[in-house]
Amino acid sequence: MPGHPTADFVHDTAGRDLTRFRIGDEDMATIVIFGATGDLAQRKLIPAIYNLWHAKYLPERIAVVGAARRPFDENTFRQDMCEALKQHSRTGHGDSDTCDPFVSNLYYQQVRFDNAGDYSRLRRRLEGLESNLGAPGNRLYYMSAAPEFFAMIAEHLGEAGCIYAPGDTPWSRVVAEKPFGFDLESARELNQKIGQVLAEKQIFRIDHYLGKETVQNMLAVRFGNAIFEPLFSQKYVDHVQITVAETVGMEGRRGPFYDHVGALRDVVQNHALQLLCLVAMEPPVRFDAKSMRDEKLKVLTSIHAPVDEPLEDWCVRGQYTEGPAGAGYRDEEGVDKQSQTETYVALRLFVDDWRWAGVPFFVRTGKRMKERVTEIMVQFRDPPMHLFRELGAELPETNVLVFRIQPDEGVSLTFNAKPPGMDFAVQPVAMNFTYGAAFKEDLPEAYERLLLDAIRGDSTLFMRSDEIENAWSIISDIHQAWADAPPPEQYAAGTWGPSAADRIFKHCRGTWLNP
Ligand code: BG6
Repeated sequence: MPGHPTADFVHDTAGRDLTRFRIGDEDMATIVIFGATGDLAQRKLIPAIYNLWHAKYLPERIAVVGAARRPFDENTFRQDMCEALKQHSRTGHGDSDTCDPFVSNLYYQQVRFDNAGDYSRLRRRLEGLESNLGAPGNRLYYMSAAPEFFAMIAEHLGEAGCIYAPGDTPWSRVVAEKPFGFDLESARELNQKIGQVLAEKQIFRIDHYLGKETVQNMLAVRFGNAIFEPLFSQKYVDHVQITVAETVGMEGRRGPFYDHVGALRDVVQNHALQLLCLVAMEPPVRFDAKSMRDEKLKVLTSIHAPVDEPLEDWCVRGQYTEGPAGAGYRDEEGVDKQSQTETYVALRLFVDDWRWAGVPFFVRTGKRMKERVTEIMVQFRDPPMHLFRELGAELPETNVLVFRIQPDEGVSLTFNAKPPGMDFAVQPVAMNFTYGAAFKEDLPEAYERLLLDAIRGDSTLFMRSDEIENAWSIISDIHQAWADAPPPEQYAAGTWGPSAADRIFKHCRGTWLNP
């Protein structure tokens, strides 16, 4: 049936009661999305809110207010969001033409980000809506605008009386989209400015990778089993590879943003480093926000790029040219014809702590690569001796543990086994867990999980100011090392990136393992 289902809430297919995740009318927040006419709101945020609402995690009557610079009328906004739901929602969209009853929960308010009067008008609008709905007045402000507006929006919200004191009921929180800043300096400044209006516990800095089921599954596998954890160390691990490969390019719309930013800032500073943290972190003492973030912070303060080595030995930058997947980067709309921006980067990094000293972490990300795949590959060391060599049996491969974040989500472990027969041979075989085969549930979208957590006040999967700054500090070191770097290596769109990327394995065993 369309819209908000009437059946009783909510068990998963294993019969687990999920009621405690449900937000009742008395705990719900008015959600205000700054930048609501932009891409992220249409592709991710509104569909995520719809899916939460449809699954009854949210009450039937809610207020989601789109706030953006354009003078839009509410009906047009609702129609646009209805179209967005038809295209991007994983569970449907209610009535097929109008997307009702969900879209009647959506409102639009023009807010020019630098106009103080608009924030006062926003406040009155929110108060009016909340009074009509009998809503408690909690507020979740989602900053989905460009980061240069975050501080301005926060300051104006504060001045207009839209932010309550920390600990107050009703509460107010701000979710800040990535990128949080452009470099270390701007991230510090942003933290400092937003910190004048909001307490740290009111600020939810999002990295949507942390909301992905399979990213959280890394924690479950590492810390929910006794058999893997002891192996995660320099004693047993030869190296780790983290790949965030995308097939998309600029999609006709991202060129101007991306050309200014590049792959290092766009994906390594956040998603890739967060993945690295989850592989490398110590077990937290508790599964709560402080313990988790303390442990990730330790990793971030220990990561270093080997900047004393020649750049070409630890870093490869790439840019796609015309190839099987289409046009070259410089021919994309909004991209400078002479652009030197990297659309691919491969790095060899280290984590200088007791557990990981000396183990290379290879990280790569790129646009317009051959396949869309995000995975983490842990390559274990060889056994201390090759017992079967005298029998003529080589060890073809050693153990590899792969976390497949997307697509084909799952975990696989490769190990050597004896094929049947008189001969004593050794051959790699795989144990393979896939989500599709093991569980019946659809995987929720990352933004669903994170939005629900933000309304519930759980910041475990969000980033703290010190994490953000330390991540930027790693990126700053790399940027400094790039000061005299040659132009990016070219790779044809639709391939695995520049062949030169293998050279960062120069001092190590192996090479990039393409799925
Ligand atoms: C975003 C980047 O943060 O993550 C995009 O800005 C990238 O450039 C996207 O395409 C990848 O996210 P996902 O969930 O599609 O892997």
